[in-house]
Amino acid sequence: MVDPAGTGSEARIRAILARRSYRSFRADPIPAEAREAIRAVLDGAPSLFGRRSGYAILVDDARAAELPGAVMSGLVGKINPWLLRSRPPAFLVAAGDSSGGLRDGERHWYNADAALAAQLAVLEAAGRGIGSCWVGGFHERSVAEVVRLPAGHRPLAVIPLGFPAVGPDAPFSLLGRGWDAMAQKLISGRRKPLEKIAYRGRFGEPFVDPGELPGAARGVEGGREAAWRGLGASRSCLRFGPRPVGPAELRLLLECARWAPSAENSQIARHVVVEGREAVRALWAAAFPETPSPRADELPALALLELGAPFPVKARTREQPFFLIDVPIAVTNVLVAAADLRLGWQVAFRFDQARAAAHLGVPADHQVVAFVGLGEPGEAPSGAAVSPLDQVRAARA
Ligand SMILES: Cc1cc2nc3c(=O)[nH]c(=O)nc-3n(C[C@H](O)[C@H](O)[C@H](O)COP(=O)(O)O)c2cc1C
Repeated sequence: MVDPAGTGSEARIRAILARRSYRSFRADPIPAEAREAIRAVLDGAPSLFGRRSGYAILVDDARAAELPGAVMSGLVGKINPWLLRSRPPAFLVAAGDSSGGLRDGERHWYNADAALAAQLAVLEAAGRGIGSCWVGGFHERSVAEVVRLPAGHRPLAVIPLGFPAVGPDAPFSLLGRGWDAMAQKLISGRRKPLEKIAYRGRFGEPFVDPGELPGAARGVEGGREAAWRGLGASRSCLRFGPRPVGPAELRLLLECARWAPSAENSQIARHVVVEGREAVRALWAAAFPETPSPRADELPALALLELGAPFPVKARTREQPFFLIDVPIAVTNVLVAAADLRLGWQVAFRFDQARAAAHLGVPADHQVVAFVGLGEPGEAPSGAAVSPLDQVRAARA
């Protein structure tokens, strides 16, 4: 279980549970070591088939000073006036290749790649005491111009990074700490209980919460995570061993998904938990009807079918719907937590989603986004074919 005293294990899980959005920053620059670590995480971020249709970049040069104005120009960015005041020393910009990136119909998978890369960087920052806030309300053309995105690429989120302005010595202003406190209280403060967002075996069967976990204090105010040794490489495993995922591990994985940031704290990510290799095999047969029956060592002990619930707020843009951003962010939290629990993972975004939905009773108004496999990591024999579940992988050389 989580070790709140911080003795060294599960530092990544503690960072996930402690991360909260900050909207007011100190002027201090981000140390070079932290910038290097964040860049390394972005460079190593896995993506769908290693294609890097989407990505995130760290903006820590003169362009950072221009980004608040770019975000705020135009109507949409006006919802974030705090950015003009907070002047963070750096930003992450999540973006993707809208013209040449991988897509299936209207689903532009660059959203998922970019969300994954940016959330990995957000967690690396959180472990180092650096605050962040995903921002989806910004003026797209101005941001693309400031960061000089290539033609055909589109930004989908702007994320200020900086040390949070908290504590008695931080100056107060309405758009600074005042806005931060108000956003926490009115938007971000609550989380849906687990049984409202997770299901056991089939959509609609609530995952009954077997007891509260010790809650993490807000954010990174206590400074850097004492035991932080970095996120490490985010790599899928090649095969799975037979060890089941225990109930406490499962609970913790779902808790990490629950604390993921989401647009307007809508928490649209839903998780259908499928336990045991035989149940996973049945889901696999629905999801990959064309592929031969999986070998035992291709089957994870646990699967999560990751869904987006209907969201009353209109999509960010037609090709950047929130379910393709928020759900991959929650998945990222799960994958990072899995590493602390010594679990391996594989993730697929491309599969027969309609059949998988029918198999688990997912209603038509929910969007199936990802099939996540989790279990004891195993090695594949050399020359073994890549499993159809193993789609989120390191970038091609
Ligand atoms: C895709 C996305 C877009 C967001 N856009 C904004 C935004 O425009 N302005 C803002 O203040 N917060 C924004 N947020 C932050 C959410 O409000 C915040 O994550 C949520 O309230 C949960 O709070 P927490 O991050 O403190 O846990 C966004 C989050 C996500 C994931």
